[in-house]
Amino acid sequence: MIKVAALVGSIRKDSYNMKLTNFIQERYKDRLNINVVPIRDIAHYDQDIEHEAPASVQRFKSELSDVDAYLVVTPEFNHSIPGVLKNALDWLSRGSREMAGKPTFIAGASMGALGTVRAQMQLRQILNAPGMGANVLPGNEILIGSVQNKINDQGQLTDQDTIEFIDGVIEQFILFTEAQLVKS
Ligand SMILES: Cc1cc2nc3c(=O)[nH]c(=O)nc-3n(C[C@H](O)[C@H](O)[C@H](O)COP(=O)(O)O)c2cc1C
Repeated sequence: MIKVAALVGSIRKDSYNMKLTNFIQERYKDRLNINVVPIRDIAHYDQDIEHEAPASVQRFKSELSDVDAYLVVTPEFNHSIPGVLKNALDWLSRGSREMAGKPTFIAGASMGALGTVRAQMQLRQILNAPGMGANVLPGNEILIGSVQNKINDQGQLTDQDTIEFIDGVIEQFILFTEAQLVKS
């Protein structure tokens, strides 16, 4: 089964983006083994210490040592991705460069109408930077606006159109990832 590490840009306990991630994790569990890797406690990136990285960074990187693919789920903060997520990605662009060449898909949910579109545009740019080099699924976007109307109190995604849309993107991602795994 494809082993996927999920990085989620919101660390608050009632995060819609975490709920979305948990929904994806559960719905496709027969085909994707998605593990949410915590990013809350990772030290701030600092080039002075990167060769003897703090334990929080070593732990984070070691959890990614054998993953096949990545899922990055981001809210939008001030038209960009949250700092906690950028920090995690900056660490991954250095040394062992865990995301380089790895199939990656991105998703995001926000309470506004635009559903993280600006944050996701920036996230694609970041993931395409030479240090990152992630292999991002082209032509597919999971952008969920007005998420507060689509996820119920139990944290389940209830909007049928959104579910069907996600089904289609996941199908594309599995095909994309399997093709990469055959090549490598
Ligand atoms: C500091 C801050 C900045 C925000 N900026 C934006 C924004 O630029 N665009 C947007 O659509 N929503 C923005 N929001 C609203 C978030 O979309 C909303 O809080 C969302 O629920 C955050 O994701 P989460 O539920 O996973 O924590 C902002 C929220 C915060 C706390």
